[in-house]
Parts: sequence; structure tokens; C-alpha cells
Amino acid sequence: MSNNKKRIVSPSMLSADFGHLERDTRMIDRSAAEWVHIDVMDGVFVPNISFGFPVLKAITAATQKFMDVHLMIVEPEKYVERFVQAGADLVTFHLEATKDVQGCIDLIRRSGAKVGVSIKPATPVEAIEEWLPQIDLVLVMSVEPGFGGQSFIEGSAEKVSALRGMIERRGLDVLIEIDGGVSRHNAGALYEAGCDVLVAGSAVFKAPDPEEEILAMLDASTN
Ligand code: DX5
Ligand code: ZN
Repeated sequence: MSNNKKRIVSPSMLSADFGHLERDTRMIDRSAAEWVHIDVMDGVFVPNISFGFPVLKAITAATQKFMDVHLMIVEPEKYVERFVQAGADLVTFHLEATKDVQGCIDLIRRSGAKVGVSIKPATPVEAIEEWLPQIDLVLVMSVEPGFGGQSFIEGSAEKVSALRGMIERRGLDVLIEIDGGVSRHNAGALYEAGCDVLVAGSAVFKAPDPEEEILAMLDASTN
């Protein structure tokens, strides 16, 4: 590894079996994954609807892990405080989803959660630069948000490297998370590119042994 940062895996509950939500959450709770990724979709910002507050509460009740909430909703400023009340430790909203980025950051911060901002594949990393001093995490989307199980968009790792350079040049302490098409096969290269947190939905939940898949991602080398 070119850096000795901590590696984190954040399994995406979007790929869990919703008929056995407690069972699947407890599996993640036992696993080596430190975070749990929660994808909230409104059918407007993305062409799909997932789940909201009651489901987040149910998942939060079944695990001690860090709740990593990814909002794919328009006007996130209307809802961020309720997501913190429902159990979010980190609330990440999309830069493209609001006209009030500063307001969103302030609301999340005042609610006591960590602040994340996400960018879609077509949004350049330069768009996020001015916000870096105020936030805890950047979530780089490596698929078009809306669905699990898509293929990793090539070029996403280069965005991560550019972002890592930007963060280091400014001497900031901002985590980089990547989401979409991530598995043990590209995990090593993504940590190497500068990611701290890897989100994985289908790679974890469709694996014959999900806990082993999480360990393989954490241990992955570049080749
Ligand atoms: C997509 C979501 C992802 C999704 C990832 O919009 O943000 O978190 O669950 O799924 P995989 O890992 O299957 O690409
Ligand atoms: Zn996500």
C-alpha cells in the first residue's frame, strides 16, 4: 500500500434480503465491516425508490456499527435532521441535488452527525473543492446512482487519486468513499488510489460467504 490509512468496508443494505432484514443486519454486525451503508432513493433524484426512516430505524436497532446514510434525494435539506434522529452517524447528500449546499452542511453538523457530500460520475472533483474544509467525507459514485449490481465505471479511480491529491495539498482530514461496482477484484486498487471506505452491495450479499467477502476486500492487494 502506498498509504497506511485505515481500510473500511461499508456493505450496502440495498442488496440485503428485505424479508430477513434483521438477520442480514446482524450478519454485518458480526462481520469485519465497520460501517453499514444505507441508500435512500426518492424516485426523483434517481429513477428508483428504496426506503426511508422506519427501515433505517430498524437497521440501526439491529447493529452497533457506524450508520453511513447516502441520500439520493432532491432537497436533502428538508430531511437531513430526521435521518440523524433515525440513527445516521454520517449523512451524505448529493452536490447535484440541492441549491443550498452550505445550508445542508450546517444542518447536518448542528444535528451532531458527520457530513458527507457525494458526486455523480459526470461531476468533476473540482466541483467539490471549495467544500472540502467543511466536510468529513466525499463519496465518489463509480456507477450512476439508483441501482445496485452495475459495473464499475472506469476512470473513477483516477477521480479518487485527483481528490486525494487535493485533500493532501490542503492538509485536510477528509475521508474518500467509493460506491458502485466494488468487490474484492478492484478493492486493492481502490485503496491504493486513495479510498478510505469501500461500499459494496451485490459483492457482499450475493457472495456465498458474505463475511469472507468483506475480509477479502479488507485484505485485497493491488494485483
Ligand atoms: C447505488 C447505491 C449503491 C449500491 C451499490 O445508487 O448508491 O450503494 O447499493 O451496489 P453495488 O455494490 O452492487 O454496485
Ligand atoms: Zn450508496
